[in-house]
Amino acid sequence: MRKSRWPPAATSDLRAMNLTLKVWRQRNAKSEGRLETYQAANVSPNMSFLEMLDVVNEDLIAKGQEPIAFDSDCREGICGACSLVVNGVPHGGKKGTTVCQLHMRHFKDGDTITIEPWRARAFPLIKDLIVDRSALDRIIQAGGYISINTGGAPDANALPVAKYLADLAMDAAACIGCGACVAACKNASASLFVAAKISHLNLLPQGKPEKDRRAKAMVMQMDKEGFGACTVTGSCEAVCPKEISIDFIARMNRDYAVALLKGEPHSPAIDGA
Ligand code: SF4
Ligand code: FES
Repeated sequence: MRKSRWPPAATSDLRAMNLTLKVWRQRNAKSEGRLETYQAANVSPNMSFLEMLDVVNEDLIAKGQEPIAFDSDCREGICGACSLVVNGVPHGGKKGTTVCQLHMRHFKDGDTITIEPWRARAFPLIKDLIVDRSALDRIIQAGGYISINTGGAPDANALPVAKYLADLAMDAAACIGCGACVAACKNASASLFVAAKISHLNLLPQGKPEKDRRAKAMVMQMDKEGFGACTVTGSCEAVCPKEISIDFIARMNRDYAVALLKGEPHSPAIDGA
């Protein structure tokens, strides 16, 4: 009988690491911030980046010190809550990966890792590594509702959707609203986020009735929130953990231009009506 080996070779052969962390600490938006140095000892390569920070925090709490404040929720790459700039790159630079899904095996023993918050005027700092991303919620809110028919449920095939449009809409709907695209952009533009949110509705027949109003309202809310303009550098696409394509920005610009040309007049969320 073949003997099973546990843990498997690939896992057991990974050695614990000792790391130096340089972490942005800032009591609140009004106080001055600075990078503080911490040692993270005996870090398992199988830990996620956030689990590593949990261990550092347990150590700080045991010493009676203030733990490092950072955002997280699902820790499965689906909620968009985690938001750390690791070594200068939002989410740490592993393609298609949120920082909660980034594992310590991608670092080396002895590494120094710098951890900072998202930096953008529209994302005011709350504490340490936590910023206020409610501007993104207000943009979604400005998009408003979708008309629905409240009669009996239609037959599944009564509303045909072309396969390529369904696929495109699904690609756009993958956006988790993390804001990494803003943090990576030299202009702090939210264009990739807004383009994804507009497109996943505007591409489908259900989203067509409010298409023009939605495009105008969401783009105007983005500007109102203080995000910068898009100069198509592509840095947003490079860091997006859901690999949203910048092609959606071209689609958003087209939808917005059409809305303006049609003279889409009334955007309640913008006009305050
Ligand atoms: S477009 Fe990508 S980076 Fe931007 S908020 Fe959505 S998931 Fe995050
Ligand atoms: S904590 Fe939910 S995506 Fe990272």
